[in-house]
Amino acid sequence: MGLWQRRIFPVLLDRVMQNRRLAELRRRIAGEARGCVLEIGIGSGLNLPFYGRSVEHLTGIDPSPELLARAAERARWVGFPVRLLTGSAEELPLADRSVDCVVSSWTLCSIPDVRRALAEIVRVLRPGGAFLFVEHGLAPDPRVACAQRWLTPFWRRIAGGCHLDRPVPELLAESGLQLQEVESGYLLPGPRLFTYHWTGRAVPAREAGSGRAGGGNARGVHPDAASDSRSHADGLRARR
Ligand SMILES: C[S@@+](CC[C@H](N)C(=O)[O-])C[C@H]1O[C@@H](n2cnc3c(N)ncnc32)[C@H](O)[C@@H]1O
Repeated sequence: MGLWQRRIFPVLLDRVMQNRRLAELRRRIAGEARGCVLEIGIGSGLNLPFYGRSVEHLTGIDPSPELLARAAERARWVGFPVRLLTGSAEELPLADRSVDCVVSSWTLCSIPDVRRALAEIVRVLRPGGAFLFVEHGLAPDPRVACAQRWLTPFWRRIAGGCHLDRPVPELLAESGLQLQEVESGYLLPGPRLFTYHWTGRAVPAREAGSGRAGGGNARGVHPDAASDSRSHADGLRARR
């Protein structure tokens, strides 16, 4: 692994991901987490300050020891035990049905075999557990999507494996995760190539008939409504 990947990229990533506009999205998903939590692609631990008192303990997994060293610093300031593991979400070292919540923020884009990682998430979630996520990916606008597909082979080489063109809802559905609450749209300012997001919660389809899983709620920003970079999450509401 080169100097860029090992030394420079982790520092840049930590800086970029501290953007205050990301904080509100972090707060939303981390604030919902409870019990025994697994965060995949925990990176430098930027979600840690947003977890609430309902978290009993947290396991964070990431392949980057450089980012995990930064996460370890941040873990010193939270009020619950944190275990940090070097590894991949494609092969979680956790027992079946052992986790209440899996959290993922801007991580599914970077995992080489994302389908395998999603299957692992489904495997480790307990009955009644939830996958809480904020992810960017393939925009619904054909021209943006075309540019995302074109740019991804180059972009992922310099951006830690990040794919701009992953169809997140389809990937979740294929893996047996049912969206329970989702908000989608150009949720952040900036070029549309990078800013189409989904945030919400999904549950294993095997659970989808019970408890909170019974009623889905999807909120989206209609692509046409987001005609400039300031269009955010207060768009259309729809019942699923
Ligand atoms: C854009 S960063 C997001 C970091 C962090 N989740 C955040 O919100 O700041 C993508 C993260 O995915 C991690 N990642 C890449 N491949 C992975 C894999 N196979 N399993 C788990 N995490 C992975 C990277 O090391 C990096 O920390």
